[in-house]
Amino acid sequence: MRHPSALLLALTFTVLSLTALPATAAARETAQRPWLDPSLSSDRRADLLLRAMTRSEKLSLVFGYFGTVMPGSHYTRPPQARPGSAGFVPGIARLGLPPQWLTDAGLGVATQRASLYAFREATALPSGLATAATWNAALAQQSGAMIGAEARAYGFNVLLGPGLDLMREVRGGRSFEYAGEDPLLAGEIAAAEIRGIQSQHVIAVAKHYALNDQETGRTVLSADISAAAARESDLLAFELAIEQGRPGAVMCAYNRVNGVQACENEWLLDRVLKGDWDFSGYVMSDWGAVHSTVRSAMAGLDQESGYVFDSRPYFGAALHEAVAAGRVPAARLDDMARRILRSMFAVGVVDHPVAREPAAIDFAADARVAEADEEQGIVLLKNSGRVLPLPRAMKELLIVGGHADRGVLSGGGSSTVFPVGGDAVPGVPPTSWPGPKVYLPSAPLGAIMGEAPQVDIRYLDGDDIAAAARAARHAERVIVFATQWGAESQDVPLSLDGDQEQLIAAVAAANPHTVVVLESDGPVPMPWLGEVAAVLEAWYPGSGGGAAIAKVLFGDVDPSGRLPVTFPTSLSQLPHPVLPGAGVPDGKPFSVAYTAGAAVGYKWFQQRGLAPLFPFGYGLTYTRFRYSALRTQVTDGQLTVSLTVTNSGNRGGAAVPEVYVGPESGGWEAPRRLGGWSKVTLAPGGSATLSIAIDPRLLAVFDEAHHRWQRPAGRYRVWVGESSASYELASAVRLPAWSHAAQWLPAVPAGG
Ligand code: BGC
Repeated sequence: MRHPSALLLALTFTVLSLTALPATAAARETAQRPWLDPSLSSDRRADLLLRAMTRSEKLSLVFGYFGTVMPGSHYTRPPQARPGSAGFVPGIARLGLPPQWLTDAGLGVATQRASLYAFREATALPSGLATAATWNAALAQQSGAMIGAEARAYGFNVLLGPGLDLMREVRGGRSFEYAGEDPLLAGEIAAAEIRGIQSQHVIAVAKHYALNDQETGRTVLSADISAAAARESDLLAFELAIEQGRPGAVMCAYNRVNGVQACENEWLLDRVLKGDWDFSGYVMSDWGAVHSTVRSAMAGLDQESGYVFDSRPYFGAALHEAVAAGRVPAARLDDMARRILRSMFAVGVVDHPVAREPAAIDFAADARVAEADEEQGIVLLKNSGRVLPLPRAMKELLIVGGHADRGVLSGGGSSTVFPVGGDAVPGVPPTSWPGPKVYLPSAPLGAIMGEAPQVDIRYLDGDDIAAAARAARHAERVIVFATQWGAESQDVPLSLDGDQEQLIAAVAAANPHTVVVLESDGPVPMPWLGEVAAVLEAWYPGSGGGAAIAKVLFGDVDPSGRLPVTFPTSLSQLPHPVLPGAGVPDGKPFSVAYTAGAAVGYKWFQQRGLAPLFPFGYGLTYTRFRYSALRTQVTDGQLTVSLTVTNSGNRGGAAVPEVYVGPESGGWEAPRRLGGWSKVTLAPGGSATLSIAIDPRLLAVFDEAHHRWQRPAGRYRVWVGESSASYELASAVRLPAWSHAAQWLPAVPAGG
């Protein structure tokens, strides 16, 4: 606490210096509301504003309303909320503080299903998994900026994304919203998205913190894991995203972690997030994730969101009473409000107010941003006999299934973006929550026709499997579009929807030049893999998806996506062959024992010696790369790896050398972890020498007892490869011991 006379002196000084300003309206404004002065630091501005606020103003800042009228409910949204939106927090007009207008989500501006209003038409990015599959942070940042700009144009200043829960459960219904199974990849891609969103003066919200890794029982399950394993896996993804992206907010999750609700989990919120990682933003709850007043406030929750989803308003009058009774110190309420204010200043929400009326959006330009993301996110999984790229001179090309004549699939739940031009295939069940199942009107068929105007192209919907197989016999090539719909609030079986397995098998049996394009939530097994010539994983392709798929099929774009998740051959390879919570009556609490610890995805497969269908990091190209000159350098105890990559094929393409690291003596959750990567586009014959610094946390283990990252001195191996399962180069290096407190940060965060 500053000494009162020092405070008086500071105030006198402020008043004196302000009286010296020219008597313009702006100067008068700044004199009366010094927190509006953008030359001051965000911390200072937040402090100044906080001092001017009444208790009830502070209480109103920490309480968010759902922004949508729900049919049949007694709830009426505040009139200022944007219709059909996720949330609203009133502003304080007398202090010049704008309201917070909140919208979902990480893939673009969504509209709430319960909305009685017209959907907001917006541009959808491809799945979060597609963006992660680009292994291209610059592209992810550009995508984030695009959706941030659309959010702003629609009058929102808080965007509820990105999502980065690690893909521990490949059947997770929201896999498509997230960034895969590896903490480094997910953290860096999410950080880039956050930087992009916030470049538009829109607060990004990293969610759902933490271990919200499956939908089945998401509000009642407890994710049980050792603290150290959590720090080396799911929490590390958030740690990296937060230090490199600096999101204004973090959303705590529905589930419990080690028995304690995520939104009242003192260890997660206060100790790790705000303590060890020094997070200066605010924690908001997921919609309906608050269960207490005092416990939540004291554990570190700063803003209750989406009232009326909680069973009662825990932070309204109840928080007022708790503060009045001293059960929540007034200083804690100040801290809650200060954090929100600080983020509003830091991100530019106050200095760059959103307009009252929606601004024009250049949807064609934004679709090109989504398309660029998908072009690099598509992963070529198989290409036997070089069936791809497709020749432009073909007699007949048959396209089957997936509504490819009309659009591309998108995922369900709160993140669904309603596209410009409307749903391309309306009425496909489910039409209500977590539907509607929306197809974006970016039809692959039209784009393919544009690529090969002279080819006779036929489309069949695939409903009649025998007819599709008959037609396949005469075609020169066949492309089957196959789908798996994933959605919030439910998990998905590890399979394609309906009878598409049979469709693919029948078509492939009739035509050896069958190409399968998958639009899936996540991994699917492929019992037909041996029968088809090529497979492309296109994820949910987004608003430019049709064009991106056509460009990769015809080779205008060399495939450069790499899997951000392991594809298992079957359920038996998973840590939980039976989905945790399956068969548990609705609403009955249960635990998910994450006994695999930090061994998520490929790390689990390697630890167990399992051969996946396709490994993490894998993806083919139409060219070839050669790797050489692997060198390791240790400076101040930290490892940097350099290597040369050469395009030894005869087409241009992008190489993604992946660096894996592991101790020679073992002892980690798995023999190796992804330590870094680089993505570089090379002309035929071109080469580049790349230098990749390895974050020391990836070479260390977390020692919970001593609250430190620890790396014993010893020999460590370094591999460079095109996937987690094979390598082109290997080396060993001796590293000194390294130990650092939990709150260690790199000197210059990689994200700048
Ligand atoms: C989801 C969040 C979303 C919120 C607001 C919740 O059901 O889990 O991701 O941001 O709703 O729509």
